[in-house]
Amino acid sequence: MDRQAKDTPIRLIQLTDTHLSEDSGEQLLGLDTRESLCDVLDLVNAIETNPDHLVVTGDVGGVGEPGSYQCLLDLLAQHLPLPMNWLPGNHDGPADMLTACPSACERVVELGDWLLVLLDTSVAGHVHGHLKARELQSLGATLARYPDRPTLVFMHHHPVPLDIRWLDGTQLDNADELFALLALHKQVKALSWGHVHQEFNGVKDGIQLIASPSTCIQFAPQRDDFCLDKKMPGYRWYDLHSDGRFETGVHRVADKSYGIDYDSSGY
Ligand SMILES: [Fe+2]
Repeated sequence: MDRQAKDTPIRLIQLTDTHLSEDSGEQLLGLDTRESLCDVLDLVNAIETNPDHLVVTGDVGGVGEPGSYQCLLDLLAQHLPLPMNWLPGNHDGPADMLTACPSACERVVELGDWLLVLLDTSVAGHVHGHLKARELQSLGATLARYPDRPTLVFMHHHPVPLDIRWLDGTQLDNADELFALLALHKQVKALSWGHVHQEFNGVKDGIQLIASPSTCIQFAPQRDDFCLDKKMPGYRWYDLHSDGRFETGVHRVADKSYGIDYDSSGY
């Protein structure tokens, strides 16, 4: 995207944790993940007049099926044909994502005056997150190359505990290394993730910390054991200003019942 007009913010949309499968009608604790994603995409189209770009922060697939990536691409082509970048979550296969859409796997995106950096925190065969040394080196090199661009960093796993005992054990396990690196690059405005299926806003060392609701089931905040929240599926938006300011918020589906099994003890 060209450098942006001075007073025109870039509207960025974040979708996360779609948990799709190759087959239509995939149920996750009673919810059809394709149906709820389509409801969220309809919501985006109803609210957003002119969104510029889309990021998808992992768990595209629910069980790692290669066809789940084409499913998302097809739904986006039908409902929200925007430039899009994605990154893998713990349920994803990075190689399958690369095969499905190489351009979406670009990790550094110049968006107007802003820079988006997408990280891979997935660990094959494990649920928790980790940033490999080469991933951190690449991030450091990118931030050194673009010192004057306000930057958003996206990844799948949460880098700080959120007082959710059953889920905090799966957070990024070397977040200290990430925060030490980000502290060297003051242009980083926010660090944003999925994985926790809930909204969160915090701040650490001057960097905004942001989590986004899933497009399917929602996890209840601050619980020791697995517990679903009755909040609806949703998405996050960002308005990125050329002077480095940004606003962000969440919109959720309303007036809908999905038949979710709220008594479930896990998934
Ligand atoms: Fe997820």
